[in-house]
Amino acid sequence: MKRWLSVVLSMSLVFSAFFLVSDTQKVTVEAAGNLNKVNFTSDIVYQIVVDRFVDGNTSNNPSGSLFSSGCTNLRKYCGGDWQGIINKINDGYLTEMGVTAIWISQPVENVFAVMNDADGSTSYHGYWARDFKKTNPFFGTLSDFQRLVDAAHAKGIKVIIDFAPNHTSPASETNPSYMENGRLYDNGTLIGGYTNDTNSYFHHNGGTTFSNLEDGIYRNLFDLADFNHQNQFIDKYLKDAIKLWLDMGIDGIRMDAVKHMPFGWQKSFMDEVYDYRPVFTFGEWFLSENEVDSNNHFFANESGMSLLDFRFGQKLRQVLRNNSDDWYGFNQMIQDTASAYDEVIDQVTFIDNHDMDRFMADEGDPRKVDIALAVLLTSRGVPNIYYGTEQYMTGNGDPNNRKMMTSFNKNTRAYQVIQKLSSLRRSNPALSYGDTEQRWINSDVYIYERQFGKDVVLVAVNRSLSKSYSITGLFTALPSGTYTDQLGALLDGNTIQVGSNGAVNAFNLGPGEVGVWTYSAAESVPIIGHIGPMMGQVGHKLTIDGEGFGTNVGTVKFGNTVASVVSWSNNQITVTVPNIPAGKYNITVQTSGGQVSAAYDNFEVLTNDQVSVRFVVNNANTNWGENVYLVGNVHELGNWNTSKAIGPLFNQVIYSYPTWYVDVSVPEGKTIEFKFIKKDGSGNVIWESGSNHVYTTPTSTTGTVNVNWQY
Ligand code: NOJ
Ligand code: NOJ
Ligand code: CA
Ligand code: CA
Repeated sequence: MKRWLSVVLSMSLVFSAFFLVSDTQKVTVEAAGNLNKVNFTSDIVYQIVVDRFVDGNTSNNPSGSLFSSGCTNLRKYCGGDWQGIINKINDGYLTEMGVTAIWISQPVENVFAVMNDADGSTSYHGYWARDFKKTNPFFGTLSDFQRLVDAAHAKGIKVIIDFAPNHTSPASETNPSYMENGRLYDNGTLIGGYTNDTNSYFHHNGGTTFSNLEDGIYRNLFDLADFNHQNQFIDKYLKDAIKLWLDMGIDGIRMDAVKHMPFGWQKSFMDEVYDYRPVFTFGEWFLSENEVDSNNHFFANESGMSLLDFRFGQKLRQVLRNNSDDWYGFNQMIQDTASAYDEVIDQVTFIDNHDMDRFMADEGDPRKVDIALAVLLTSRGVPNIYYGTEQYMTGNGDPNNRKMMTSFNKNTRAYQVIQKLSSLRRSNPALSYGDTEQRWINSDVYIYERQFGKDVVLVAVNRSLSKSYSITGLFTALPSGTYTDQLGALLDGNTIQVGSNGAVNAFNLGPGEVGVWTYSAAESVPIIGHIGPMMGQVGHKLTIDGEGFGTNVGTVKFGNTVASVVSWSNNQITVTVPNIPAGKYNITVQTSGGQVSAAYDNFEVLTNDQVSVRFVVNNANTNWGENVYLVGNVHELGNWNTSKAIGPLFNQVIYSYPTWYVDVSVPEGKTIEFKFIKKDGSGNVIWESGSNHVYTTPTSTTGTVNVNWQY
């Protein structure tokens, strides 16, 4: 069962992508180093606060009140930079841990101003941009950035940049000399600032109270100068800026504060990315403990972007860190998210980050970190590990959770857990693609199984550090046989015996024990594991990963339409989106021998290049419980299907009731017809009377259409 695992480990990372596969020979689905930019499901992401990792070049450090020598003031720059990351890539710290992707702080130039607060806060975190087309000089030059990308790629590591296009920097409406007044530069040329903003580059609606979605989008997040994405200059500027970074060869984008930007503009941004150089993109939509938000699910399913999986992260913290829930709650979250997210395997999971208390609590037991990492790395989703977790770094709240990296010890148990499970993630597709099934549960013990075709991973976890449990009556999909723990007993895992009916012999699960048992075998039938990206246009290329496709070229269909195949191997197919009408499609793979896979649902074909248009309707008076929606004659406006109408529209910040508005991603340069409707809580629909509104959308810029409700 493990014959191919050792092959993979000893193989050169870079060459493994070209390894030939036959039906009888089992090779990894996603070997590290193939740098697949649209499928991260077999990766392990490592999140680096660049300023806090390694100072590889002291000559680029700021001086004076921007800098804290020895990082004694955690709100100052501490010297970390891209050269420091390059050093850690080259000395093997990241690759030996099994890291296959890094997520780094926003690389763009940030404010040089120091805040006039108690600590003299600075932009060390990268979220206070001033010029999205220049680098943060304290992290390095553009050529340093290029060297970072090249060094990472040479070791099979993908590079994800943080990108924060919601805002520039802290600004005050009334005091132009507060910080840098949110000023924006275009590769060195001043564009504008927050006060006297005659071009409307920014919103001027005060700070959000976080009371509802609209309020959070169109008012400032804290005191951050909030971009008006409908401004034609800003729209183009931000889309041009991301292309500059895409041209540097980045492999992914982590989009900051997606809950605080218009959905429509973000969808048009994603279309731009997928049309240019497609990369895996995931947004940050913060959810508190136990918070469930249907807008969050809608965003993950319809924006073209994945999300950080806060439901997963918060729940695992409750179970393993805060003791405010147990495995029943965790299992419920696993089931609920599997149905809430169309592609749950594309959401980015984590146990902590720079905005929460570090998982390792001050009085915590490092064993809990090890257990949490084991669960994270064997669960569905793209796992992200916050720098220093493997060194059991502590720190509650920001900035104590962002201390300088304390050590680079390759022998911590956490480091070894990551190492072991990283190879398993790359070698057993059940971890990338599989469903999750609960097999045995009580409040302390969770035994779950991931399965994809014949590939199976069974994981048993005991969170109690004092109690043992006798595990009887456990069933598994593992074929009969003896299975040794894939963690090599790092967390005390047993060997288990499985009978012919899947019954596992009784065994003891000791305090804090984690066992991982696996089986893998070649598929004789095609199964699709992943498709990326899940949104695109006619002519875009898609990557289909899975098993059992066979070595001879077969057929890929979008609905009933055959796509042209660009490349075909047993585990990976590249196709071109065929010339089909915009809409959602099921994709199937048929082998040359005629066997057809199960459908992979929900691929969205857009009408054309997208632009963000603000639709405004005046005098739309409603009864209590009614809301206004928008529907029209293109896929992006629901194709006249009122259950797919856009909305509910907003009516409080940019315009006020009885005027309603919404920013929508629509096809460019197209004459479209639309109407507004009123819907009540039970779904009853009232149509506007009169003829359809007609509007020709702009080409590669934003637009606004403003009409009166037709009574
Ligand atoms: C969320 C980021 O993760 C956080 O650290 C930052 O301060 C805000 N967005 C604003 O950019
Ligand atoms: C994962 C589901 O398991 C699969 O059935 C579905 O086709 C894809 N997501 C796409 O929605
Ligand atoms: Ca430095
Ligand atoms: Ca905003």
